[in-house]
Amino acid sequence: MPTLHWLTRDEDVRAAAKTPTRLLEEAPELGYGDRDAGNMLIQGDNLEALKALLPYYAGQVKCIYIDPPYNTGSAFEHYDDNLEHSMWLAMMWPRLELLRGLLSEDGSIWVSIDDREGHYLKIIVDEIFGRSNFLTSVIWQKIYTIKNSAKHFSDMHDFMLCFAKDSEHLKCNDLPRSTKQDNAYKNPDNDPRGPWKATPIQARNYYSKGEYKIETPSGRVIEGPPSGTYWRIAKEKFIDLDKDNRVWWGKDGNNIPAQKRFLSEVTTGVVPTSLWLHQDVGHNAEAKNEVREVFRDVNQTFLTPKPERLIERIFQIATNPGDLVLDSFLGSGTTAAVAQKMGRRY
Ligand SMILES: C[S@@+](CC[C@H](N)C(=O)[O-])C[C@H]1O[C@@H](n2cnc3c(N)ncnc32)[C@H](O)[C@@H]1O
Repeated sequence: MPTLHWLTRDEDVRAAAKTPTRLLEEAPELGYGDRDAGNMLIQGDNLEALKALLPYYAGQVKCIYIDPPYNTGSAFEHYDDNLEHSMWLAMMWPRLELLRGLLSEDGSIWVSIDDREGHYLKIIVDEIFGRSNFLTSVIWQKIYTIKNSAKHFSDMHDFMLCFAKDSEHLKCNDLPRSTKQDNAYKNPDNDPRGPWKATPIQARNYYSKGEYKIETPSGRVIEGPPSGTYWRIAKEKFIDLDKDNRVWWGKDGNNIPAQKRFLSEVTTGVVPTSLWLHQDVGHNAEAKNEVREVFRDVNQTFLTPKPERLIERIFQIATNPGDLVLDSFLGSGTTAAVAQKMGRRY
């Protein structure tokens, strides 16, 4: 498998093992809420913190979200984001290795990043997690306005690399159906079973029983499925569906038939996609507003937060209530806040 090389690589791949295991020290004066809930906010370098967590939480974390510095060359109020490229990789490697050790066999890790380091990052995560455990890189529309002063392209998205600890064991949850999706179901023939959506009965996949003549209610004979396709349903099943008024022939009874799928019979949610739009999961400006709301009395609020809806979407897909989640680049605390609201342990 091709791998990425940089000057200090040999040293960096040994860094996690060489990091001493230190004990976490409780600061009760900073504690809040139920101590036995087990939730933790840890202050310090995350390399040492992750190493300290390992003896207690190895293999137990269901979902890790991280939003490391993107290495944009900026000096933000709360942290520097300007490492030489190799140093950035050197920073990421041992942390990713420790994070992998913390993940459960059915767990997943989601890493926010942009084009500056993203492709280099993908190669090292491939190496640490295994290429077969790469699931997708989600495109997140972080900005919805075009910046006309941009030199070449107006940057509107980040991406999130999503890896399973073991893709054979990971089960992603479907997402709840949206009103917009439900509104696609109509009831033009006043079917007492309620709104339905017409879905084609032909498909490209070969089906041995998928070639037969059909006569429409208007008397037109359809010689067979459209060229290059097969009916998806055998003739007997098609006749049964039609008897049960589950076939739609168009208003005049003359169209190629389609199957009526009733909203009342749709039990599943929607499978997650790799394109996340700002309307659905928030955007940068929304995230900044959320932080401003929480830290009203603080002069300089955190500049690079993620919106809560983005993290919520990740947890909807990758976790269930009560699961343990982790973010080792916590920033303003969005991941912990969302975990708290969604009943995940953190
Ligand atoms: C991009 S921000 C994360 C923002 C966060 N997702 C939010 O919603 O607010 C990156 C954070 O990682 C922290 N960070 C960078 N290097 C770190 C390290 N070695 N140990 C712990 N935190 C680190 C920075 O201080 C910053 O708060």
